[in-house]
Amino acid sequence: MFAALALAALPLLSAVMAIDGCTRNATVQQGDTCDSISRKYGVSTYQLALVNDATIDENCDNLSPGQNVCLGVSGEDCTKVYTVVPNDTCAWVQEMYGISNQTFWSNNPQVDAACDNIYVGEVLCVDTESFSYPQYNETLYNALAYTYLPFCDE
Ligand SMILES: *[C@@H]1O[C@H](CO)[C@@H](O)[C@H](O)[C@H]1NC(C)=O
Ligand SMILES: *[C@@H]1O[C@H](CO)[C@@H](O)[C@H](O)[C@H]1NC(C)=O
Ligand SMILES: *[C@@H]1O[C@H](CO)[C@@H](O)[C@H](O)[C@H]1NC(C)=O
Ligand SMILES: *[C@@H]1O[C@H](CO)[C@@H](O)[C@H](O)[C@H]1NC(C)=O
Repeated sequence: MFAALALAALPLLSAVMAIDGCTRNATVQQGDTCDSISRKYGVSTYQLALVNDATIDENCDNLSPGQNVCLGVSGEDCTKVYTVVPNDTCAWVQEMYGISNQTFWSNNPQVDAACDNIYVGEVLCVDTESFSYPQYNETLYNALAYTYLPFCDE
């Protein structure tokens, strides 16, 4: 998804194309942020970004009320989520939900190896099943992280 710079050229195209296999939709309300949508509808921050990477920009500042967003696609829809609170660590979240390192990072690939970049209000996927999200480009993400941490609204 962090090919978002390239995808930014496609908003008109994607705006008229429904997302294939979308299992749940939501309508953007006034005042919504990507994180608030994630919390309201129970979708991880990463998944919301991934599914809508062609329409929502890296800072999530182009949402408009009435806009339709897809929350998940068939086979890749994590519905078991957790919202980060102050002092959370990945280890603690993993322990609460019984999630292995492999599954945790497979489902939340935006989280760095040291778990230094989770933030309060971020929604994590806490399913014990691994979803086959597309390959995540960590190099690109790390390069952009502090300017373009996707959907770091809070
Ligand atoms: C989600 O919205 C798209 C585009 O409006 C629509 O084609 C699709 O049927 C909707 N899917 C669900 C599950 O509501
Ligand atoms: C978080 O940790 C700090 C330092 O250990 C502590 O002072 C603070 O009260 C903790 N906050 C919460 C909400 O637990
Ligand atoms: C999971 O990762 C943490 C942090 O890197 C490490 O301390 C722990 O040993 C790992 N657990 C397993 C089962 O590999
Ligand atoms: C990941 O992103 C970097 C930086 O843009 C790029 O050089 C590299 O080819 C990408 N890797 C993959 C596997 O797409």
